[in-house]
Amino acid sequence: MNFKHPRILELGCGDAFVVSQSANQWEFDYLGIDQSKHAINLAKASLSASCPNAKVDFIEGEMLHEVSTLDAEFDIIIAGYCIHHLSSVHKQKAFSKIVKLLSTGGVFIFYDIEMKASESVEEYNKRATQFYEKHWINLSRDKVVRINAHATQCDIPESEVFYRMLFNNAGFKQLEKVFSDENELYALYLAKLSPFRS
Ligand SMILES: C[S@@+](CC[C@H](N)C(=O)[O-])C[C@H]1O[C@@H](n2cnc3c(N)ncnc32)[C@H](O)[C@@H]1O
Repeated sequence: MNFKHPRILELGCGDAFVVSQSANQWEFDYLGIDQSKHAINLAKASLSASCPNAKVDFIEGEMLHEVSTLDAEFDIIIAGYCIHHLSSVHKQKAFSKIVKLLSTGGVFIFYDIEMKASESVEEYNKRATQFYEKHWINLSRDKVVRINAHATQCDIPESEVFYRMLFNNAGFKQLEKVFSDENELYALYLAKLSPFRS
């Protein structure tokens, strides 16, 4: 990525951890959308402490609704661990809105939970919650129980095949899956409207 002063949009920004950790020295404009006021307050504090050259703004609201109201262009759009809260139909709508907001040379960074092609949502959530039980040992028992309850009740994972179809339907021309963990629970994609330069 080579942007002089990128305009960044982050859906479901949470505490903006990824941007605050990776863009410290950049000059950039940032718009974060999240339905949680608490998360936005954390993001504000984090970005003002770690990204002194950034101009930041936030919208507190539902991301699919809010992206529909935007009339702007962004060089980097990030959606991390939030799209899985949407139904399959709304995921497609979100990707289609994102395409409209992306600049010609811009990049969409998408990372989320991802199930195997052979799995159902229930099978994935069972495998994921068993993994958290076994490996997230530094968290208190109460936190793991609450995370697992949230995952079981709220998370709607999809497969790589499904996400590739969404990217394609939305009109992305280039797609790279740049990360998948060894347990096949998560994936990260970079997508562009124009071909990647080699
Ligand atoms: C697991 S956190 C991820 C935060 C951040 N993107 C990251 O990668 O660290 C999910 C965030 O998405 C937000 N969220 C989930 N569904 C949303 C929706 N429909 N509209 C707006 N925000 C949403 C939650 O409030 C939460 O802050």
